[in-house]
Amino acid sequence: MAKMWNGRFKTATHPLMEAFGASISFDRELAPQDVAGSLAHANMLRAAGLLTKKEHDAVKRGLEAIAKDIAAGVFAFDPANEDIHMSIEAELTKRIGEPAKKLHTGRSRNDQVATDLRLWTREKQDALLERLRRLMLSLMDVARRERELVIPGYTHLQRAQPVLLAHHLLAYVEMFGRDRERLEDCRRRTNRLPLGAGALAGSTLPLDRDRVRRELGFDALAANSMDAVSDRDFVLETLFCLSLVAVHASRLAEDVILWTSSEFGLARLDDAWSTGSSIMPQKRNPDLLELTRGKTGRVVGSLVSLLVTVKGLPMTYNRDLQEDKEPLFDAVRTVDFVLECLAEFLPTLAFDRERAAAMLRGGFLDATVLAEYLVERGLPFRSAHEVSGSLVRLAEDTGRELRELTHEEMRAASPLIGIDVYKRLDPAKTPGSYATEGAAGPRSVSRALTAWKKRLRERAKGTART
Ligand code: ARG
Repeated sequence: MAKMWNGRFKTATHPLMEAFGASISFDRELAPQDVAGSLAHANMLRAAGLLTKKEHDAVKRGLEAIAKDIAAGVFAFDPANEDIHMSIEAELTKRIGEPAKKLHTGRSRNDQVATDLRLWTREKQDALLERLRRLMLSLMDVARRERELVIPGYTHLQRAQPVLLAHHLLAYVEMFGRDRERLEDCRRRTNRLPLGAGALAGSTLPLDRDRVRRELGFDALAANSMDAVSDRDFVLETLFCLSLVAVHASRLAEDVILWTSSEFGLARLDDAWSTGSSIMPQKRNPDLLELTRGKTGRVVGSLVSLLVTVKGLPMTYNRDLQEDKEPLFDAVRTVDFVLECLAEFLPTLAFDRERAAAMLRGGFLDATVLAEYLVERGLPFRSAHEVSGSLVRLAEDTGRELRELTHEEMRAASPLIGIDVYKRLDPAKTPGSYATEGAAGPRSVSRALTAWKKRLRERAKGTART
């Protein structure tokens, strides 16, 4: 079949050129969006008097039938049509003849592909927002169930201070919550209509861009026709949002890998989420978590790949931009799957309470509490730090916990230490005495659980878009 731009060429395209330029193997993903865009464009052409009623009817019915066939998987893609836009238009021409030739009036594949991709991205952003919401709810379920469990909190991967496991989990809720805000913000800039920009300069025809905008549910028109066809910020922003989601998921995965190692022994992987070894019968491997960590590289790679593609592109559309789709599609698919699995997996983690209690022993995790006790009694913090340090040394040298030191021993280090200190000196009870806003104790945990429950309920309503 003759190419749509064949008019000015004498010889046929080299088969290698054809194969090299083809995007149909991956951009068929955009078929529903391409049809939706074409329908809105055709409706606008009709309203502008650029299509007769008969032509419009034929185009509309033809496009709808093609969409059906593609969705049903019975559409025969002809490799001679390099991309989804040409495939659909060529097929429409085959099916309805002359009226199909008017569909591309005032339109270029440059504004067409930008429109399709924005529609696709917007839909995926909404799906990812929901996936994130579910993962947050899943983390909150575990936090609620384990709300009493005290574990060591770490800095430098060294035991530092006692924290509630729930607080640790809720730290991820905060991260994914910010990820949602970022995605919502990015969605606002994604939701602008390029169509009507034509190849780069607009059109001399009386095209009603705002009509198309309303029909496709965009919030605004892309204001500059040249920017409209060359801008891929929305893809880059989405890839950044996804990269950060993946990085957060990767850190969560790493925490769970540590927790489920024999060395930590803090949690056990459920059979359904463990993988075995082909040689070592005893193994229980955290492949889900390792792959979550591993796939992060791929998602970040997608972001970097498109940043490099766009860098140095002259205005306006350049074919390089066709390379935006595979990284985006892959990153969306990858992150979506990671989030789905993590949300399902987390509630199956079984925490070992005895092991958690044992981990609180021997590390003098209550040493900071002792120093702050002395501060309450008027000692400057630096001196309090020193007193507490000297008692840690004494306890360590004599193989005891801080609370196993006698009152005399403590008073020798500082006369300010009263008998009431023993009420404070148990790492398992420490979180209960954290007093600051957002601290790792039960007060923050209940507050965060209540606040997030409310916010996520509101957000769910707020993001329900048509
Ligand atoms: N397949 C192309 C892409 O994905 C569509 C736009 C082609 N535009 C052009 N002027 N050749 O970017």
